[in-house]
Amino acid sequence: MNKHWLAALAGCIISTAALTATASAQSPELLDFGPGKPVPSGDPVMGKYMFTAVCWACHNADLSGFKGPPLTGPSFTKIWQGRQASALAGLIRGTMPKDDPGMSERAARDLVAYIVTYSNNPESLKADRAGQ
Ligand code: HEC
Repeated sequence: MNKHWLAALAGCIISTAALTATASAQSPELLDFGPGKPVPSGDPVMGKYMFTAVCWACHNADLSGFKGPPLTGPSFTKIWQGRQASALAGLIRGTMPKDDPGMSERAARDLVAYIVTYSNNPESLKADRAGQ
């Protein structure tokens, strides 16, 4: 293998890693609940599919809680308001679904996007359902 090519490849990997680290260090996405407030990055529609396939069984289809606590409303937002979206994604990824944890980082981010959209802009999710 050509040494220059290898060096270029290594440089590329290092700068990508540095860029990723800077991006997440500079802009932690903070959870902010309330009508029309911004939603952390992630695909809320994918999150909704996962939620209605798995999570609803313990958290209820309207996120109001059942065997598990509510994921919307005052008690939930009091716990998570102002905290990092990545912390919520990390909790979901590490511990949920409670009977079978271990999803991808991406899936956890999509679920966070869905959970926050459900509180901040539920109308956008209804429009999606109408189109199915
Ligand atoms: C088998 C039941 C069950 C399933 C399925 C489940 N959960 Fe949970 N969840 C719980 C319980 C019980 C808790 C309370 C904390 C604990 O016991 O670990 C919880 C806690 C949580 C919390 C923390 C809530 C808080 O008050 O901070 C989040 C967020 C959460 N679940 C998200 C999810 C998501 C997303 C899914 C789907 C991938 C999911 N859960 C699937 C039972 C479940």
